[in-house]
Amino acid sequence: MPHIPLIGRLTGREYTAILFGSVFVALETVLTFVIAFLPTSVIQWFYNHSRTLWHAIVGPPTPPSPHKALAENIRRAPDFERLCEIFGYTHEEHVVMTKDGYLLGLHRLPFRRGEDTGRRGYSTGKPVVYLHHGLLMNSEVWVCLTDPARSIAFTLVELGFDVWLGNNRGNKYSKKSIHHNPNSTKFWNYSIDDFAWHDIPDSIEYILDVTKEPSLSYVGFSQGTAQAFAALSIHPQLNDKVNVFIALAPAMSPPGLHASIVDGLMKASPTLLFLIFGRRAILSSAPAWQSLLYPPVFSAVINHSLRFLFGWQSHNISPLQKSAAYAHLYSFSSVKAVVHWFQIMRNAKFQMYDDDVQKVIRVSGTAAGRHRPSGVTSSSPARFPTRNIVTPIVLLYGDSDSLVDMDVMLRQLPGHTTARRLHGYEHLDIIWGEEVDRDVNPYVVEALRSHAVRPERIMSEAKLNGVRSLDGALESPDTVSETASMYGVEER
Ligand SMILES: *[C@@H]1O[C@H](CO)[C@@H](O)[C@H](O)[C@H]1NC(C)=O
Ligand SMILES: *[C@@H]1O[C@H](CO)[C@@H](O)[C@H](O)[C@H]1NC(C)=O
Ligand SMILES: *[C@@H]1O[C@H](CO)[C@@H](O)[C@H](O)[C@H]1NC(C)=O
Ligand SMILES: *[C@@H]1O[C@H](CO)[C@@H](O)[C@H](O)[C@H]1NC(C)=O
Repeated sequence: MPHIPLIGRLTGREYTAILFGSVFVALETVLTFVIAFLPTSVIQWFYNHSRTLWHAIVGPPTPPSPHKALAENIRRAPDFERLCEIFGYTHEEHVVMTKDGYLLGLHRLPFRRGEDTGRRGYSTGKPVVYLHHGLLMNSEVWVCLTDPARSIAFTLVELGFDVWLGNNRGNKYSKKSIHHNPNSTKFWNYSIDDFAWHDIPDSIEYILDVTKEPSLSYVGFSQGTAQAFAALSIHPQLNDKVNVFIALAPAMSPPGLHASIVDGLMKASPTLLFLIFGRRAILSSAPAWQSLLYPPVFSAVINHSLRFLFGWQSHNISPLQKSAAYAHLYSFSSVKAVVHWFQIMRNAKFQMYDDDVQKVIRVSGTAAGRHRPSGVTSSSPARFPTRNIVTPIVLLYGDSDSLVDMDVMLRQLPGHTTARRLHGYEHLDIIWGEEVDRDVNPYVVEALRSHAVRPERIMSEAKLNGVRSLDGALESPDTVSETASMYGVEER
């Protein structure tokens, strides 16, 4: 079928995938609409039945325990504030307006547990660290661990850092713009470029303004690292404001997805995603599904999707941690940002978003175009000049992470980059793993210690006690030592 551009060059397998994809998305759209109008009792009925069915298949539920109760509390926490309350922390909310008019929610944890001075929005005189989440996430991913000693955010607070947590435009805490309504396609017309040009530098500038510090340390996870690579590479002056960039599960030019059919199809034509998902938020029905399904069922669905798409086994994340954290995994992002990722994977190059989609369809009918995979343009957009980054870079990556190709990445980074391999780690377990407090967090602290402004302000870990105990979070204090041994936490 040479005269149907784009579609004409797909194989039978790809047709099948499009068909299934479209049916899935149509079903999703209808269900989201239906769920929105269901009375609570019907939702309760579905929930009860998915629970009954689940227990009929996998056996009766385990008896209640303080850890289960805590995980359940975390799962149910509706927002960042409630998550912090569970662990006895008070937080501050800030809103920063980007130069192109998006309003981003910033969260701040300025005080140790019990240290709250009541003063809000001031400099605390502590070194500042900024944490940024990954694709389709929000700042909650840093604070939804079932043990605060494993949360890098709480650990840094206790060590005496002023911790700030960023949010991308469009997510749960940043779904507002002074120019566009979120139900318009214009609001969702953004890619990683916009995070790099606006969200990251504008958030950092705001934080330095409030804290009166000359620079801050940046800790990113997954896409949060890509945003920093991009932002630091295109804003030379930003390099003076970031004293160290610590990249957890770094992502720059991932090799691709584990699911070969999805991978092949999306790389062949990244813009197919627009046909399937439209031009607004991607998978916006996820929260509705969450309310409908019994939590272990929801965990199993996520578990299997992660295995199918990325080949992650998630063995390092405990079942309780999964049920607590998966509820906080998804947040809104634009379809365009995901298309951007597929363009990067397809060209195997960390480049800016390719707007030249019209041209693709035009050339594809010509003889020259037919030999190329669809979506290829004659000239491609600029690469992010990541080798120009001056800020010290510390990479922490898992050697089982299907999204990281360290050799390719190091070739694109300046010579002063250091990389540490984490044995047996995948991707999500770098923030949620069972032993991150031993395998990951100490290296983050070490890097911060050697680069932060006036590091003598950072407390020594030997003195760290508050965060090592769970008494604020668990129901009864006498379970603390049991917890400590269960999580392998040493009481110091
Ligand atoms: C669902 O279960 C709860 C208790 O587990 C019960 O109170 C409620 O009435 C049930 N709802 C329906 C619609 O079955
Ligand atoms: C967006 O939502 C507002 C109300 O929330 C409505 O007035 C407006 O017509 C909607 N716009 C579109 C394009 O759907
Ligand atoms: C998105 O923005 C670009 C310019 O930044 C514009 O060319 C394009 O038409 C916009 N697309 C939509 C769907 O609004
Ligand atoms: C998740 O998948 C892993 C294997 O990939 C399996 O061992 C584990 O039991 C699954 N967990 C759930 C809750 O389904």
